[in-house]
Amino acid sequence: MLILMEDQFQVINHPLIQHKLTLMRDKNTGSQEFRRLLREISMLMAYEVTRDTQLTEIEIETPLEKMTAPVIDGKKMALVSILRAGNGILEGMLEILPSARVGHIGLYRDPKTLEAIEYYCKLPTDIEHRDVIVVDPMLATAHTAVAAMKKLKERNPKSIKFVCLVASPEGVKEFTSHFNDIPVYAASLDRQLNEKGYILPGLGDAGDRIYGTK
Ligand code: URA
Repeated sequence: MLILMEDQFQVINHPLIQHKLTLMRDKNTGSQEFRRLLREISMLMAYEVTRDTQLTEIEIETPLEKMTAPVIDGKKMALVSILRAGNGILEGMLEILPSARVGHIGLYRDPKTLEAIEYYCKLPTDIEHRDVIVVDPMLATAHTAVAAMKKLKERNPKSIKFVCLVASPEGVKEFTSHFNDIPVYAASLDRQLNEKGYILPGLGDAGDRIYGTK
């Protein structure tokens, strides 16, 4: 039984997201279609997870008169992709957050221990002034996500959110046991992990499906 701090984990139930996720899960969906759906879902997820973004008022002039109007300070955001599958979400999110800075953290799962091993990390230099959205399609064992958050927290960003498509109950429990201050958003909370650390029913290996590498 998964017991969570209220609101820390949120499934985004928007019908368009749910519909596209179903198409992505289907094993007959090829890489080209999978990538397109991931890009579209990621735009919709970005829309949902930025709902609480602060607005400021600026002075502008319409063709008819002056007014003060709301804008967000897009320069203060950063997207961090956990390589390599995170890049699929990153691409979609950048379409609606074009001025966000981008970071990459490269981690792979040791196939035997399922532990996360870092091989790359490049983050925006001013990340401590930014609200960060970390993206990775699958929150499975959460070892990778936890390692990425630890790395990121060393740089002390203004805030962190974690966005995935499919989460496992085991992954959410592991993640939230390490961090109770990072909201987690998913399009689905699936049933369980298998013995190889894959999510069931899941959608398979997200990286392989994005890049057609299997
Ligand atoms: N990573 C994936 O790509 N898929 C899973 O089911 C678990 C981890």
